[in-house]
Amino acid sequence: MKALIICGSRDGGFTSEMCRSFSKGLESCGVSSEIIFPIEMDINHCTGCGCCSASGECNISDEMDAIYKAFEENDMLVLATPIHFSGPSSVIKTVIDRFQPVWFKKGGHPAYMTALLSGGSPSPRFSNTVSIFKAFSITADMKWLGHLEISDTDGKEMHYVVERSLDQGEQVGLSILNGQQ
Ligand SMILES: Cc1cc2nc3c(=O)[nH]c(=O)nc-3n(C[C@H](O)[C@H](O)[C@H](O)COP(=O)(O)O)c2cc1C
Repeated sequence: MKALIICGSRDGGFTSEMCRSFSKGLESCGVSSEIIFPIEMDINHCTGCGCCSASGECNISDEMDAIYKAFEENDMLVLATPIHFSGPSSVIKTVIDRFQPVWFKKGGHPAYMTALLSGGSPSPRFSNTVSIFKAFSITADMKWLGHLEISDTDGKEMHYVVERSLDQGEQVGLSILNGQQ
């Protein structure tokens, strides 16, 4: 079992810390993972050109190719994002939009999907982002395993994020290994 974790934020913030701790939790149950940071990659926006409706593949050639490949090779996809203006970060949304080809061509994909969300305020509107992520999981035929949301990061110490994400990684890892999902 292996997981692809896509972090929709910069390395060194709360969201990347959630990713690293979640990854350690998975590892403790024998699930390996890699974390990628699209913010550091050359990834263009979907232009809605419609080419993928005929070919099943995106016409744009950029570093999204590496993400398509990893998507096919992993058992679980983890999307992580900070809440930006009550939605996902533009970084993670750009990546999701570039998965429009899966709408037309069903190919290799992870069996499972889960998510990690952080928001700075005491009551971030996580629901918009969860809806978008679930829509993606349905489109790509990945079983939705639920998500971890951590609010009030502006008022929290990093260790709070670490402990909860580690625990979530262990729980998700155990549940897929035990076949409970
Ligand atoms: C552009 C921008 C928009 C934000 N909008 C919200 C918001 O709508 N609701 C909220 O609770 N926090 C909002 N935040 C705060 C972040 O969600 C919060 O600080 C997050 O945990 C930061 O994660 P990071 O350290 O990985 O960047 C916003 C932050 C930025 C930079």
